[in-house]
Amino acid sequence: NGWLRYARLPSAETLHSELPVHVLVLNSTETSPVYTAGSEVAQGIGSIFGKKCSVGYSSGYIPPDNATVIVGTIKQYASSGGLINGIPELEADGFWLNISGSEVQILGQNERGTLYGAFEYLSLLAQGNTSQIAYASNPDAPIRWINQWDNLQGGGTHGSVERGYGGPSIFFENGTVKSNLTRAAQYARLLASIGINAVVVNNVNANESMLTAPIMDGLKRIADVFRPYGVQLGISLYFASPQALGELDTFDPLDGAVIEWWHNRTDQIYKRIPDFAGYLVKANSEGQPGPLTYNRTLAEGANLFARALQPYGGVVMFRAFVYDSQNLNESYWKDDRANAAVQFFNGLDGQFEDNVVIQVKYGPIDFQVREPTSPLFAHLQQTSSAIELEITQEYLGQQCHLVYLPPLWKTVLDFDMRVDSQPSLVRGIVSGQRFNRTLGGYAGVANVGTNQTWLGSHLAMSNLYAFGRLAWNPRLDPASILQDWIRLTFNSDPTVLDTITSMSMESWPTYENYTGNLGIQTLTDILYAHYGPNPASQDNNPWGQWTRADANSIGMDRTVWNGTGFAGQYPPQVAVMYENISTTPDDLLLWFHHVPYTQHLQSGQTVIQHFYDAHYAGAANAQTFPSRWATLKSKIDDQRYEEVLFRLTYQAGHSIVWRDAINNFYFNLSNVPDQAGRVENH
Ligand code: GCU
Repeated sequence: NGWLRYARLPSAETLHSELPVHVLVLNSTETSPVYTAGSEVAQGIGSIFGKKCSVGYSSGYIPPDNATVIVGTIKQYASSGGLINGIPELEADGFWLNISGSEVQILGQNERGTLYGAFEYLSLLAQGNTSQIAYASNPDAPIRWINQWDNLQGGGTHGSVERGYGGPSIFFENGTVKSNLTRAAQYARLLASIGINAVVVNNVNANESMLTAPIMDGLKRIADVFRPYGVQLGISLYFASPQALGELDTFDPLDGAVIEWWHNRTDQIYKRIPDFAGYLVKANSEGQPGPLTYNRTLAEGANLFARALQPYGGVVMFRAFVYDSQNLNESYWKDDRANAAVQFFNGLDGQFEDNVVIQVKYGPIDFQVREPTSPLFAHLQQTSSAIELEITQEYLGQQCHLVYLPPLWKTVLDFDMRVDSQPSLVRGIVSGQRFNRTLGGYAGVANVGTNQTWLGSHLAMSNLYAFGRLAWNPRLDPASILQDWIRLTFNSDPTVLDTITSMSMESWPTYENYTGNLGIQTLTDILYAHYGPNPASQDNNPWGQWTRADANSIGMDRTVWNGTGFAGQYPPQVAVMYENISTTPDDLLLWFHHVPYTQHLQSGQTVIQHFYDAHYAGAANAQTFPSRWATLKSKIDDQRYEEVLFRLTYQAGHSIVWRDAINNFYFNLSNVPDQAGRVENH
């Protein structure tokens, strides 16, 4: 159940008199989110307080009763005689929660909003909060989607999950949709509780068979189990599907037959799934086909799908992760994969249909431990955009290392692009506010699997929880989101709260310290597993995640005056900051500049000594995690205590492997001794 445990509160008995005894639900259709909301409230109160709450359904007059929770949309409430004066105007998916009056009101702007309000009420109760509050809550952005990189097969009889570390797919097996979708329904419940409104269920490296009749029938079944939770279903498309399925001999997006083919398939999907969310498209990236295959623009490619979806209100999430992995050559000083997105989208702003959203990874390369914000966000002003965050910890320890990601995400969401020298925070751009766009938002690559913990690790679930909370309100503080999650997932014991909070909040800087400093990227094996240290693998390959480390110097020169020019892709005030070494923050120095190992940082330390020190500091902090966790013995259940301890003990050991592998590699390369005399001793 993740954070939806609704464990019995120690103070349950004393709170009984303050609790409602009845839930009045204003929609009796079992598949409606309002109906779900009513059942959740009654079940949650039963579980948290051991108090039975009756549930009634009505769309008529509401009898006044001060021990009742009213659950419905604003419209349902008003039309059954409820007074809505004083309730602020809500936005789509928003809700009004009032615990201060004679009745508890959970009223959504729409059905989904009502369910979000119910989960919010339960979250407060489960944390022991029975304050008399009344407030409206609205999401910051309309797109709050999860991406799953699930394959139809590939894991024996199961569907495998690309970059998934929580077991095989909960959606697919044996090349088709699973017959038992219980887990899919549980997943939708979990996601609804954090405001997620759609899931793209298959891998961005998509398979054309998604569009065959048996799979589309299966997708309908997934959509049916999602619907009571207000979660819509979307799919990733293989751009060359018409040809790959043998139905046409071309997939040229401007070809009449291709256009008709996509309209037809889209109609077939909506016949089965009337509330289908839309398509996610990875095109002309890492060997995938796309419009460029026919010399068409990315906009022409995206618009092909957009127009097929328009009659139904569907959305195309078109990924900005476009680059040619076969064509990058490190012997050219100016070659730079980081430049690709802005170059490929150059001149296309304004050419996309209104229901296209460009889905942009947070950094210009690929989910590294630290990257500057993708400059593409500043270039899409007449086009909606969404930020793609990775919840699954691909380059960040694959759930075997504790890394709480929201502090990393916040460096990007709160980054000010200074477009036209005006405040232009990334979170204001993707919410649509900065450039007046109606669409935009958040896509989180979650990749849960059949493992009982969903992500393969108990503590990794804070990242999924926080993703939803931030997509709803990116102004929230990562530590306070974390504490809600801890109280809901474990309990409110102060030692539990303090220990998990401090370890989690230290975890990203700790991981950065022992895996990749000063913006050099995660120095992992990039050729296959993306796991464990392998600094040598970064260079001399066409993938373009280079460090350009040699005997004397290290880093990518991305300046305009002497390098790849990437710094110049930012608006002038930001570009000038990165162009100069003296104004580039230390933590991105090697991202933007190629410098001698003996270069002094703003901190006063040299680059190489910083490497040595940071690796020792990071590994030393990871060594403290198991003993800090050990203080929780008997304060949480044994099973989770032991399972987390196992992972933290592994991490403590693996952090030493990382420390020594990287320090030795750069010591051997540079021959610069460690001032503290630690490194050459290995
Ligand atoms: C990364 C990841 C791939 C994925 C790709 C993408 O490169 O390693 O597995 O397919 O990103 O986001 O498309």
